[in-house]
Amino acid sequence: MSFANQVAIITGASSGIGWELAKTLAAQQCAVGVLARRQDRLDALVQEIQAAGGKAACAVADVAERGPTVAAIHSLRDQLGPVDLLIANSGVGYPTTIEPLNTDQIVRMFNVNTLGVVYAIEAVLPEMLQRGKGHLAAVSSLAAYLPMPGESGYCASKAAVSFYMDSLRMQLRGRGVHVTTVCPGFIETPMTAHNPFKMPFLLKPDRAAQLIVRALARKKKTYNFPWQTTLLIKLAAWMPEWLIARALAGKAGKGGTKDPPP
Ligand SMILES: NC(=O)c1ccc[n+]([C@@H]2O[C@H](COP(=O)([O-])OP(=O)(O)OC[C@H]3O[C@@H](n4cnc5c(N)ncnc54)[C@H](OP(=O)(O)O)[C@@H]3O)[C@@H](O)[C@H]2O)c1
Repeated sequence: MSFANQVAIITGASSGIGWELAKTLAAQQCAVGVLARRQDRLDALVQEIQAAGGKAACAVADVAERGPTVAAIHSLRDQLGPVDLLIANSGVGYPTTIEPLNTDQIVRMFNVNTLGVVYAIEAVLPEMLQRGKGHLAAVSSLAAYLPMPGESGYCASKAAVSFYMDSLRMQLRGRGVHVTTVCPGFIETPMTAHNPFKMPFLLKPDRAAQLIVRALARKKKTYNFPWQTTLLIKLAAWMPEWLIARALAGKAGKGGTKDPPP
């Protein structure tokens, strides 16, 4: 029970991977602070965790907004205690269109997927440095490794977050703060529910959460999973662009989050 008696904050916990991460950690006697925009979903999650004997609290914020995100995480810290583990998991995905260019949605992906991680880290890092211990994790994506037609905004927002975390890890060497970049393949969540193509090696979100928590307990620097999709993506990254474009024609750029587009 690696996370027993610790405090974890999870953003994007109102559904999918984040929801399951909160339950998995709470089952290990970790106190969990959960954050997202939908209060009713967070209330239901807190109730479910408490009914199972766990400790949880929730706070509402849009992670694209710096002040409210930092304030929400501070309020969770005040309720639960100093934060040992942050999992910045909130994310949205929209296909990228070129005619017309959907700039608003691209901006939104950077604001939520990339800056949302930066703001969440801002809320916990000073105290982690003061205590000389802590663990920062962000849920990026295997999409960070492969530029894909129709997914340029999503891929770029995730590549940015992966580089941010990987660089931060080097900067935090010797300060007692671990940094993990989590890169999942396809997970069966509301985000992928409308993908009209077959998703290879699709994992259930509870299994994804178990794997992520195990990787965090092992203090992995980067956790790419499942290995089959990782291999496919890494091989594809060596292929010529025309081959990727042809292979993904009609596939990438067709799915997306259930969020109403901005
Ligand atoms: N599913 C996959 O195949 C897959 C693969 C690789 C990476 N990922 C990444 O995994 C993470 C979790 O995604 P998921 O698959 O579990 O999707 P999901 O079920 O749609 O969950 C997304 C979570 O992010 C929250 N969120 C979205 N926008 C937000 C905002 N502006 N402020 C605060 N919270 C926000 C949502 O809560 P509210 O709507 O209540 O705010 C929800 O809890 C994302 O970062 C995603 O990019 C997913």
